[in-house]
Amino acid sequence: MAIIIDGKALAAGLRQQVKVAVEELTHKRNLRPGLAVILVGHHPPSQVYVRNKAKQTTEVGMASFTHELDESVSQYELLSLVTKLNQDEKVHGILVQLPLPSHIDTNAVINAIDPQKDVDGFTVTNAGLLATGQNALVPCTPLGCLLMLRHVYDHSLSGRHAVVVGRSNIVGKPMASLLLRENCTVSVAHSRTENLPALCASADILVAAVGRPHFIQGDWVRQGATVIDVGINRISIPNSNKTKLVGDVDFDTAARLAAAITPVPGGVGPMTIACLLINSLTACCRINDTTIPSNLSF
Ligand code: GUN
Repeated sequence: MAIIIDGKALAAGLRQQVKVAVEELTHKRNLRPGLAVILVGHHPPSQVYVRNKAKQTTEVGMASFTHELDESVSQYELLSLVTKLNQDEKVHGILVQLPLPSHIDTNAVINAIDPQKDVDGFTVTNAGLLATGQNALVPCTPLGCLLMLRHVYDHSLSGRHAVVVGRSNIVGKPMASLLLRENCTVSVAHSRTENLPALCASADILVAAVGRPHFIQGDWVRQGATVIDVGINRISIPNSNKTKLVGDVDFDTAARLAAAITPVPGGVGPMTIACLLINSLTACCRINDTTIPSNLSF
């Protein structure tokens, strides 16, 4: 039976480190990191995410600014808010919660964010910096996955075959870049990939980011592999009116073959918000041309 990678505990450890670093910045350097989150409309999962982000931001001692806008907000008004936050010295990180309503051009809004404040790492500037191996703000979910993998492999990922299933700009592509940076051999698979089970079965590291419940079957997993499940899918429980969260991997069968696996919930999810706090701290230090406090060990 696989080791269960406890994302909740790892994330709590990271948040504690961030909190100590924020105390140093605030009290010794008179610098309080601030994160602004923009939520448009009433998408229930987004409301939960935004509430959690604000709570955890405050808990580590950072300033939290939440801007809730009506579903009908115009693109012009949204861009005006982003411009205002770009100029606000108290704000070091800006996150626009996705998805946005269909009348808004998501790329236009994301790329209006000052790349130095782009704590999601979604602007073309940060995506390009990461893809070319330069100093970028890195998307939070793949960064969280990487920190978990470094924990499992004690930082020695070099030479491993990593298969990333999913090619989104938010997870799959940046994940592949990060794994390449760690000297992994990386395959990126997607819905058109032929013989996906065999490709997955050749992976030392399998990252599932397809957004389909239990898509990756247990017998696709190589004995001794590490499985990182990025999926968060809500499904109904048969013969009941209740629902539950499951990943993209069929956990019970995969855990019999894997050496280590992340659970859902309690795996990648908590790491994503911890990485958002890390990115906000990093952005604050870079903007103010100050070193990142030395207690941070990632
Ligand atoms: N919606 C779902 N995941 C994310 C994320 O990582 N960042 C933003 N901005 N929106 C999201």
